[in-house]
Amino acid sequence: MVSSALDSLQNFSFRKDSDEILPDPDSVHVAVSKEDWHDEVLSIVVVGASGDLAKKKTYPSLLKLYEENLLPKELTIYGYARSSKTHEGLRQHLYPHLIKTGTSEHIVNSFLERCFYYSGKTYGDESAYTSMIGDLAKFESTSESTVANRLFYLAVPPNVFGESGMVIKKIGMATTGWTRLVIEKPFGHDLDSCNELLKTLSDDFDEECLYRIDHYLGKEVVQNMILFRFSNPIWEPIWNRKSIESVTITFKENIDTNGRGGYFDKFGIIRDILQNHLLQVLTLFAMEPPENDDADSIRDAKVEVLKNMEIISLDDCLLGQYDGYSDDSTIENKDTNCPTYAALRCWIHTPRWEGVPFILQAGKALDEKLCEVRATFKPAKTLASVQSVSKKIEPSELVLRLQPNPAIELHNNTKIPGLSTSPMKSKMTMSYEDIPDLSNPDAYTRLLLSVMRGDQGSFVRDDELRRSWEIFTPLLHAIDDTGVRPLPYKPTSKGPEERVKWMEKMSKATSPLQSSL
Ligand code: NDP
Ligand code: BG6
Repeated sequence: MVSSALDSLQNFSFRKDSDEILPDPDSVHVAVSKEDWHDEVLSIVVVGASGDLAKKKTYPSLLKLYEENLLPKELTIYGYARSSKTHEGLRQHLYPHLIKTGTSEHIVNSFLERCFYYSGKTYGDESAYTSMIGDLAKFESTSESTVANRLFYLAVPPNVFGESGMVIKKIGMATTGWTRLVIEKPFGHDLDSCNELLKTLSDDFDEECLYRIDHYLGKEVVQNMILFRFSNPIWEPIWNRKSIESVTITFKENIDTNGRGGYFDKFGIIRDILQNHLLQVLTLFAMEPPENDDADSIRDAKVEVLKNMEIISLDDCLLGQYDGYSDDSTIENKDTNCPTYAALRCWIHTPRWEGVPFILQAGKALDEKLCEVRATFKPAKTLASVQSVSKKIEPSELVLRLQPNPAIELHNNTKIPGLSTSPMKSKMTMSYEDIPDLSNPDAYTRLLLSVMRGDQGSFVRDDELRRSWEIFTPLLHAIDDTGVRPLPYKPTSKGPEERVKWMEKMSKATSPLQSSL
């Protein structure tokens, strides 16, 4: 299985005779300055290379980095899984997914020549690892560089993280460079399982080696949040309870569980989207200015938000399930109470946010695909002429739209042009679509680059993860233990009808701390 990997790599020459230009190994994309690791050897091992994530996200993102000259010249990518495949078999398996990215066939083929496949009996198979890592080490030894780095991407279910980690620790660690592990969610099911999972890898690896991916942290608008907020001083005076009435973070999908019902029914929308993706966005929106711009300062500031967040209870929550959800043949429990829609109200007890309701809502099989943060400002109190106009003055809003059509919008009232003195809603928009020649890489592409650069700022730290489960576990257990029934809603609707009144009530409510003052 492994024999020809090194030979074919050694015979590989980067430039081929062709009219088409291959990535120039000596040039690095302007957006990223050349860093030491570009001149070092890099071996990437995709553990679970036969799976869905690997073909849909991991390899296509690596291809994009390769196409943009963002990977080292001396690069090789090893796939590992239990399924039996040849190197060529893996390449054929990946090809349609790579070509779909729009990258030219020539570059795809050049990339695939660097991809190899190894199989083992289990994810902890020492003999298979010895053979793969032996070849990897031979590849490293042919390099002029004295530093060889190794990145292991765990694209496997969490039940095999432990055995994968152990064998990597025993056989796979780099001796002259860094070793980093990328891990995919779900990072547990509740606080206890999260703690177990954290322990599984922390016994063998320091936190600095572990990169827990939440792909929402790689989306352009999310990556922009810190810079947008802290580099424009106009925001700081109004980014607080004095000016903001409520903040709503919405995730909507117009697809249902899409054949993943078996997986989804064990998790539900709160574990799938709210406890991770939306909570990450909330912490970036709500955090205090970090002391520095390094990864730990950013994550310290996010953890501070979580520490000050109240534990969520069932009373803070509206649950829904779309009609026909359990018709999915992969769902065993036809009487399941798994929520496919949830809206939650959260409180953050800090001087900045005391009394401001943060509403998180997410749903599958809704009317549209959308993800946005909407800060609603307090109503205008002054200006007699404004108060006297008959038309209702709408509150101003700041909208950060992650998808579709990423944009930052400020919704304001302006006078209807002409003789009228009545107000109309207007928008000041920064749309990413209007930026010429914009390159908007996939979230995974950005995050993989961050791993190689050793930038952990966009990855979830252990204490952050633990606290996020502390906030959500009582609610999740209450849903499981009480068997509470979610409200029904029609697929393609906006969610349960009751949500309109719930939202109105929750976004005006006072926090328990405020009402006890
Ligand atoms: P898959 O179910 O496709 O699993 C990946 C590979 O792992 C499979 O090809 C299989 O390889 C092996 N595998 C599967 N189940 C088991 C098992 N029970 N025991 C041992 N090995 C197993 O998963 P995905 O690729 O979809 O996801 C990988 C990880 O990424 C998961 O943790 C998932 O939750 C997470 N994730 C996935 C997303 C996606 O879009 N797919 C999105 C976000 C996160 P073989 O049999 O060849 O060993
Ligand atoms: C994943 C969830 O983490 O995010 C999926 O498991 C969801 O259920 C997906 O569809 C949404 O990601 P995106 O980037 O398409 O918004």
